[in-house]
Parts: sequence; C-alpha cells; structure tokens
Amino acid sequence: MAFFSSGSSGESLFKNPIGLDYDYQPKLVKYRETEMRQIAAAIRPLFQKRSGRNIFIHGPSGVGKTAAVRNLLNEVEQETDEIVLFYINCWKSDTTFKMLLQMCDGIGYKFTQNKRADELFDIVKKDINRKAAVIVLDEVDKIDDIDFLYNIIEEVFNKSIALITNNRDWISELDSRIKSRLTAEMLEFKPYNLTETRGVLQQRLEFVFAQNCWDNDAFEAVVQKASGMQDIRSGLYLMKEAANTAEERNSARITMADVAAAVKKLEEFSIKKTEELEEETRFILNLIKKNSGRKIGEVYEAYKSAGGQAVYKTFQRKIAKLEDDRFIAAEKIIGGSEGKTTILKFGHEKKLTDF
Ligand SMILES: Nc1ncnc2c1ncn2[C@@H]1O[C@H](COP(=O)(O)OP(=O)(O)O)[C@@H](O)[C@H]1O
Ligand SMILES: [Mg+2]
Repeated sequence: MAFFSSGSSGESLFKNPIGLDYDYQPKLVKYRETEMRQIAAAIRPLFQKRSGRNIFIHGPSGVGKTAAVRNLLNEVEQETDEIVLFYINCWKSDTTFKMLLQMCDGIGYKFTQNKRADELFDIVKKDINRKAAVIVLDEVDKIDDIDFLYNIIEEVFNKSIALITNNRDWISELDSRIKSRLTAEMLEFKPYNLTETRGVLQQRLEFVFAQNCWDNDAFEAVVQKASGMQDIRSGLYLMKEAANTAEERNSARITMADVAAAVKKLEEFSIKKTEELEEETRFILNLIKKNSGRKIGEVYEAYKSAGGQAVYKTFQRKIAKLEDDRFIAAEKIIGGSEGKTTILKFGHEKKLTDF
C-alpha cells in the first residue's frame, strides 16, 4: 500500500496553515476598534513620558481580548523604543519567578542564573523606570502571588498595566488594597454577533485556505456553531478539523460532512472533559443540569436531599470551579425578595480555551 502517496490533486487545501496555529496573531482585529481605541488611550500618555492609565479587560473566552491587546503592543513596538512592552500569560508563567524571567528576557537581561526573585525585580524595575512600560498580564486570575502585582503597581513608575481575565468576579473580589492603587478603567469585550463571527472567520478562511475549497453551506455551519458557542476559537478549530478530514479523503473541497465530523469531535472533547471531573463535582454538575435556571440555594437544597454531604461553603467553591471551567454559568441577580442571589445555568458546550 502506498500510505504516503499524495492525494489525487496533489494540492493542499491549506495555503497558509500557520493561520490556524494556536499562537497566530492576525494582522487585523476586526470589530474591536472601539475597545482598541480605549486601550490605546490608556497607553498614549507614555509616549509623552507621563504615566499611563491602567485597565481591566474582561469578557468570555474566544472573543478577541488577547488578539486585540497583542495587536496594539505590536503597533507600539513599531512606533517607539522608549516604551518597554511586556506580555505575560499568567497561566503559562504561573509563578512570580517565571514572570520575572520573562520580564528579564523582555529587557534583554541575560544574567539571571543564581539570582533571587527580589534581585531580578530590582533589575527589571531599574531598567523600566528609565523609560516607560506597558505591562499586560493575561489570564491574570491565574496569578499565584498577588503581592507581585502590588509591587509592580507601587514601584514601577511610568506605566500602563492591562489585566485581562475571563472571570469578572476575580476583579470584584480583588484585594481592595490593590484595587484602590490600580484605579483601573473597566473594559468589557462582548461576544461577537452572528455577522461579526462570520466576518472574522471569513477573513481567516481567505488567509488560510486555497480559493474556492469551502462549500458555502459547510462554512456557514462552522459560523453557526461558533456563534452559538460565542467562541471564535471553536470556529477556527472546526475549520482546521474539517479541512484535515477533507484532505484525508483526498477531496478538493470541504463539505458539510467534513464539518459534521469536526463538530462531533468537538462534542466528544467536551464529554471527555466532563469525565475528567471528580465524582462529587460531576454529581453537582448533574444536579445543575436537572435544575438549570434555579437559584443556588435551591440547588443546594436539592443536593442535600440527594444525599450531598458538603457544607454550603464547599458547595459554593465547587460551583465556582464549574463556572471557571465553563460547565455552568452563574448569574448574580440583584433585587427580588432576597436582595441578592445567584442563578445557576447548565452550560452549553465546553469551550476550547483550555487546550
Ligand atoms: N476580531 C478578530 N479578528 C481576527 N481574529 C480574531 C478576532 N477575534 C478573535 N480572533 C481569533 O480568535 C481566537 C480567539 O481570540 P483571543 O483573542 O485569543 O480570545 P480571548 O483572549 O478573548 O480568549 C484567536 O485565534 C484570535 O486570533
Ligand atoms: Mg486570551
């Protein structure tokens, strides 16, 4: 058998496959002009050697927060050498030390061996205090040591700090000592609507794929699914998977059947994730599925009647985790007879952010 003979046409469907890489940075971030303008305004004073403003950026995953900010950083980089730029993903660099190593790398400092965190911080601080800095902490809710953030706020001068998170509650629960010193503006990234989702995916399609290889209805199915999940990343995933399936069967076109196979894979992925939950959490998740749309207190009652043992605090913690992992949505409602309560809703599908 010729396992590696090229396909019938011999031509790849992919023109620029890097456009579907996880880290690919699109040249143009469509539909985010307003948001980017606000971020740019917070940074602009740094160009005049004045301190910039700080900004909290929040919104669900896959709505262009990272893409928009990185795009702006690239623009600043092209404009000036007088502003040092740091982009740190706090999930990947999950300790203060790793973050500092990344910052040292950012200022071109190489003699990091055998140095302690505080020594590295001094070096970074001295360097950036001669200039100005934009410090972006992405997925900042994963930061392990909030004091580090405090030190940056206190000891770095001409700066703009942008803190990005999917988790709005993280901001409201942030240590007030830090919050009051940050005095950050809030900026929300709302999910794209259907037309915008189509626009973003269409733009990527044109960059990545050879001309005319997508059937219209196949692409539209991708758009609908991504829009339903409110996550561009799942749309990109579906495009890649569907195209791979088409290539495997040596087809010159990507069809509805290829997209259906990709959607199935996406769904299997979310089921697999559910299986990875520990037993107790899965038990709670099932209860929420049955009681979707009810108040947290009611779900806790149902949990107790079904034999649940955990005290309310523990229960709440598990709920928070489920929300963090996007299995459920917890909506805080103000008003009504009880003043404040939380409504729990069973989530749609798991998003692909945690790949
Ligand atoms: N407006 C846009 N234009 C082009 N690509 C986008 C746009 N919005 C999101 N994307 C792409 O969708 C994916 C998810 O966006 P990302 O910025 O990582 O989302 P978030 O940080 O909000 O989770 C990335 O691959 C990104 O390049
Ligand atoms: Mg992001």
